[in-house]
Amino acid sequence: MRVLGIETSCDETAVAVIEGAADDRPVGRILANLVYSQLTEHRRFGGVVPEIAARAHLERLDGLVAEALAMAGLEMAELDGIAATGGPGLIGGVMVGVMTAKAIAFAHDKPFLAINHLEGHALSVRLTEGVAFPYLLLLVSGGHCQLLTVRGPGDFTRLGTTIDDAVGECFDKTAKLLGLGFPGGPAVERAAKSGDSLRFKLPRPMWRKPGCDFSFSGLKTAVRQLAESLPKDDPQAIADLCASFQRAVGDVLADRSGNALARAPSDTLVVAGGVAANTYLRGRLEGLAVRLVAPPIKFCTDNGAMIAWAGVERLRRGMVDALDFAPRPRWPLDADAGAAR
Ligand code: KG4
Ligand code: ZN
Repeated sequence: MRVLGIETSCDETAVAVIEGAADDRPVGRILANLVYSQLTEHRRFGGVVPEIAARAHLERLDGLVAEALAMAGLEMAELDGIAATGGPGLIGGVMVGVMTAKAIAFAHDKPFLAINHLEGHALSVRLTEGVAFPYLLLLVSGGHCQLLTVRGPGDFTRLGTTIDDAVGECFDKTAKLLGLGFPGGPAVERAAKSGDSLRFKLPRPMWRKPGCDFSFSGLKTAVRQLAESLPKDDPQAIADLCASFQRAVGDVLADRSGNALARAPSDTLVVAGGVAANTYLRGRLEGLAVRLVAPPIKFCTDNGAMIAWAGVERLRRGMVDALDFAPRPRWPLDADAGAAR
């Protein structure tokens, strides 16, 4: 089955077409995968501006859908389903994607699939790496930091989450404080490469405590205080602080994931979400599990392929959505998680 996937929940307008088997097999074929990054629109503001994002999605999306179909060599009529991120995310952008997907689904009489953005990240590793259910997932992105057991689409158990900030947010804030620009994660990783990770002593919140929850606000504050005390034109000090920060994050992620593995139904650890693009952190997680799996780096940050793939996984189980689906600014993966992040 072939599914069109649309992702517009943050600052990437992304469209993909994926072909997957009708049965439960992981691994699909990527027929098209296009990402238009709004980086230049947002850069001068130092972060994503929701109104600008929504307008940019609106301007780009139809053209990207047409381009993706042309690349896949398919007509709308040859698709089996239309998937879009239904939340969580910046609501203006999510509405643009959902409305577009619904219109295509209605006009061509195709099933519509509203995908939880986090489920997109959570299942993406099956598209590219063929991982079987169940597995333990460390989901690390700009808005989230969670450990979950993944049994199938819509079937998640949360083992732990952050009690304050998300880890990607912490990377972005660190980069901003140090004048490294936006987006922060890749900039911090780059600077850390020439840094001494033992130079600065930073806190490791929750480290060696029982359970699987995370906390990053203490680390964020410590980085801010150090950053303010550093001389402005000292690239080595900046590199050392980035390396020390990254090491502290690595210690915490490894410690918490270790605790979760002890409770997980599988010894496969999957890491996904934008922060999973960080090579140093991937290295820190290796050796914790019998098998560590991460999607290729370009599938860690937001993309349409993960939404189309989650669409395939849902469509083949008959989990389609009605056209009155309302976009959701918040949408926890675990039904029991309530208002938690
Ligand atoms: O998954 P994603 O693209 O969007 C959300 O769903 O949030 O994640 C974006 C986050 C940003 O905070 C970005 O700074 C972070 O992922 N990120 C990284 C790296 N690449 C992206 N963090 C650390 N190292 C990286 N190489
Ligand atoms: Zn994301």
